[in-house]
Amino acid sequence: LRIGVIFGGKSGEHEVSLQSARSVMDALDPLHYTTIPIGISKDGRWHVGKGAWKALEAKQPAALPSKSAESTPSSAKRFINSQIQGLSPVEAKRSPDWLPPALVNEVDVVFPVLHGTFGEDGTIQGLLEMAGVPYVGAGVLASALGMDKVAMKQLFSAVGIPQARWVGFTRASWSQDEGRIVREIEEQLGYPCFVKPANLGSSVGISKARNQRELIEAVRLALSYDRRVIVEEAIDAREIEIGVLGNDAPIASVAGEIVPKHEFYDYEAKYKDGGAELRIPADLSPEERKAVESYAIRAFQAIDCAGLARVDFFLERGTGRVLVNEINTMPGFTRFSMYPKLWEASGLAYDKLLDRLIELALE
Ligand code: DAL
Ligand code: MG
Repeated sequence: LRIGVIFGGKSGEHEVSLQSARSVMDALDPLHYTTIPIGISKDGRWHVGKGAWKALEAKQPAALPSKSAESTPSSAKRFINSQIQGLSPVEAKRSPDWLPPALVNEVDVVFPVLHGTFGEDGTIQGLLEMAGVPYVGAGVLASALGMDKVAMKQLFSAVGIPQARWVGFTRASWSQDEGRIVREIEEQLGYPCFVKPANLGSSVGISKARNQRELIEAVRLALSYDRRVIVEEAIDAREIEIGVLGNDAPIASVAGEIVPKHEFYDYEAKYKDGGAELRIPADLSPEERKAVESYAIRAFQAIDCAGLARVDFFLERGTGRVLVNEINTMPGFTRFSMYPKLWEASGLAYDKLLDRLIELALE
């Protein structure tokens, strides 16, 4: 089988994706697969084939952090328009010319090892659907729901998944009535609270606010990344994560715990300085273990996920409440990342996990 591995991308998690994809490719190459590297640079250029790694590892222009419509390059719009105009009404093409040929003709399965916006959020999945190419992991809907914290939390509430309290709002409503939103946050959540862009992963743009001044500053920072922001109550909790694998009959891995050395598990701790220890399996009571497992499966099914996901939990100190924090449809995937480690501890080694994911993509 020929596997197109897509990596890099236009998100703030570009570098994390390079690390994940490097591990995936190193593992796939010696197996019975042919891999085709497909790199997307921070400014959205596609590089297919041997030169892809070199192109992305060279110095690149800075990523566009915002997901707003202004970031769509007008040259791309012009190009798409010209393609559409060039088609006669009766002409039916399986793949428009603007799809990279490697996606359509040269691969059997795509593994989009992309984290964050333009990759984990349904956009690349939509492109792959259009191209008719099978791919690893969640489809368009699940990817989009998994990336948007506001939509995710609304859905989880609807299916009775316990969560921390939260308040979500848009850039427009903030600039209209900042005072009302601040009051709502103070009444419903109190301090400290966490402020996050609705659509970014890996803790980018997240801050902890301990008072009103910090809250306003944190919201401004988060709004510079996204037009929607979510504020969550701070929970004094252990952080438990679990892997889910499958399509219509998903199974859960053993659970793991993140023991951070920093105050909260931020981007630096997660990816740069090894500032957190992974404890696998997590030390849980049978009841806690059962709750984590069943909420993880329920969360996976609530967003109509496929392939894989890592579901992150808070286990509240004192009360013992088990709360879902979020679902990640393309979790970090290096050999040392939580998701593969959880499956390794459950008896499925890294290589076997990749085999299984490719099998699920073709199901
Ligand atoms: N967003 C990162 C890659 C994770 O959740 O592992
Ligand atoms: Mg996430």
